[in-house]
Parts: sequence; structure tokens; C-alpha cells
Amino acid sequence: MIDNIQKNIFWHNSLITRQKREKNNKHKSIVIWFTGLSGSGKSSIANYLEKQLFKNGVHTYLLDGDNIRSGLCSDLTFSVIDRKENVRRIGEVVKIMLDAGMITLVSVISPYRNQREIIYNMLGGVKNFLEVFVDTPISVCESRDPKKLYRKARTGEISDFTGVQFEYEIPNNPSIILNGTDSLDINSKKIINLLYKNNIISFC
Ligand code: ADX
Repeated sequence: MIDNIQKNIFWHNSLITRQKREKNNKHKSIVIWFTGLSGSGKSSIANYLEKQLFKNGVHTYLLDGDNIRSGLCSDLTFSVIDRKENVRRIGEVVKIMLDAGMITLVSVISPYRNQREIIYNMLGGVKNFLEVFVDTPISVCESRDPKKLYRKARTGEISDFTGVQFEYEIPNNPSIILNGTDSLDINSKKIINLLYKNNIISFC
């Protein structure tokens, strides 16, 4: 059925290409995908980093898991199938953002290694996709507990909470590992240096 529908869909090439947009923007586009436990610091680092990039004229956008789940993915639960669908949809969005010439920061638990690899491969590998593992011990995440969700998970008020009743697969070979207990400034600088080294931006 779906295959039949796809047969009658025709791709339109845009006159304004990614290369033209990148030239106008004076930087390349890329996806910076932060993965890690809830409370690990993904969103805080991504927000801080975005501010530094934006200040320097970079065209950025931050896609945050909680925000995406308030709209595009508001129909999804935290089941295995729905978490995969969540990441699949975000993958399709960032593919568009890449073409739009943006540096897109994604902050989403994305617990499955294989699912993250699918996005990595779909986007054509490391030149388009940096996997940032925010490595924070669960004891630290749990002591922070900014949304009080660990507490709810421990008391059984919520189920399927990542790290408590639900698995999280750490990346085998991320582009960079950040220590989630380091300062936002240190972690943000590490990524800015990586972007500079990879010729994505021209400052560091
Ligand atoms: S993912 O596992 O599907 O990738 P995602 O990053 O979109 O997760 O959403 C995680 C956010 O949803 C958390 O930061 C937290 O605020 C909230 N949340 C609510 N219930 C859960 C749950 N069972 N497991 C993980 N996060 C949850």
C-alpha cells in the first residue's frame, strides 16, 4: 500500500541548494545529536552551546526532546516502538534542517544505539552528524532530578523511565564524550573546537 503510494510521489529539486545556503551562512550545516540519560545535562549544554554559536552569527536551531514530544511527537508514549518512532521523526526533521543550511542541536535521550546509527547512516555519516554522549552517572542524574521524574519512577508513579525501568544503550563510538559534571562552558568549548577542527565553522 505505502509502496504503491510512494510510486506516485516525485521529488522536486530546489533551486536554492544546501551549498548555496551554506555559502550565504558562512558556515556548513551539521547535526549535533546529544544523547544521554534524563538529567545528564544534554539540554543545558545544548542551550549554552547554541547561545555561543548564535552570538557568532551561526544559523542554529535546538530540537529538545520534551518540546518535540509536546507537538510533533505528542501522540507517542515511552514504549519501545514509540521511542523508535520518536527518533525516526526527529531524524527526518534534522535531514531537512541539514538541507536548510542550519547547525541543528538535538537533545533527546534516544536510548537505542542502533536507532542512532540509523540516523547517522541516513545523514551520510560524521560529516553531517556528530554524536555527543553526555556521560553522567545515574546517581548524579538522580540527585539532580530537576523534573522529579526519578522520584516518581522509584515510587512507581511512572513506569518505563529510562535508567530505572527502561534500558539506555551507551554509544560505542561517539564523536565526542562529555563529562556531564564538567561546566557548561568547558563542554560547550569542546564542541566548538570539534566544529572548528571539522571545518564546519571558522572560529573557535
Ligand atoms: S526518548 O527516550 O524517546 O528519546 P525523549 O528525549 O523524547 O525520550 O523524552 C525524554 C523526556 O521526557 C525526559 O527528559 C523527561 O522529561 C520526559 N519523560 C517522561 N516520561 C519519561 C520516561 N518514562 N522515560 C524517559 N523520559 C520521560
